[in-house]
Amino acid sequence: MSPKDRIIVALDVPHLDEARALIDKLGDSVGVYKLGLELIYAGGLALAEELAKDGHRVFLDAKLLDIEATVERATAAIAKTGAHFVTVHATDRKTLDAAVRGRGDSALKLLGVTVLTNLDRADLSEQGIEMPPLALVQERARLSQDAGFDGIVASGKEAAALRERLRNFLIVTPGIRQAGTDVQDQARVVTPADAVGAGADYLVIGRPITRAKDPRAAAETIAQEIAAALSSS
Ligand code: C5P
Repeated sequence: MSPKDRIIVALDVPHLDEARALIDKLGDSVGVYKLGLELIYAGGLALAEELAKDGHRVFLDAKLLDIEATVERATAAIAKTGAHFVTVHATDRKTLDAAVRGRGDSALKLLGVTVLTNLDRADLSEQGIEMPPLALVQERARLSQDAGFDGIVASGKEAAALRERLRNFLIVTPGIRQAGTDVQDQARVVTPADAVGAGADYLVIGRPITRAKDPRAAAETIAQEIAAALSSS
């Protein structure tokens, strides 16, 4: 996998035309286009299918969670769009198994969302879960791997602890900022080099690329940083 293929760009924009303008600028300077709930509900699925048909890798950040029949059929429908990755909440084995059945023998890769990073120990306690967030992340990552998932989404801070225990399992890391740049609303950020060093396979990057004056140049700079980190590790 080349360094640019490890970059998942988050198309966090409200309108399809803005997404298309970004894709036109970025072309093949990134490996994967991620569509989240905002764009999916604004007609993004048609764009996802179009991108997949044009040979791009698409990440549908659908964060599925429902009864088994619904998760299974939704995953099967997503597989038909040609998407490369989809996210599923890794809360329980029933949900994970349903997604694995729905994927069938398609090439769709399943990624577990362990614990959303905006939740702290007090939020978990409110749900009756008396466990530090990192322990729950590790538990749900193991559950995802046991179910036959391809990987998980984890912050850069969690990636190293997960990588120690998980082999042959993809770690996809958001919250990436280059040293000395604006962190925006991301509380705990890591640099592209640190994320790769911690064992991340893919980096989810939004605003550092999408809000850059020249998004393509920003993606190329980040790819160079990933390449340097890989060659020194
Ligand atoms: O603009 P920025 O680089 O902060 O975008 C990060 C992307 O990663 C967004 O699409 C966000 O929803 C996603 N994400 C995140 N933190 C997580 C999980 C996903 O920022 N823990």
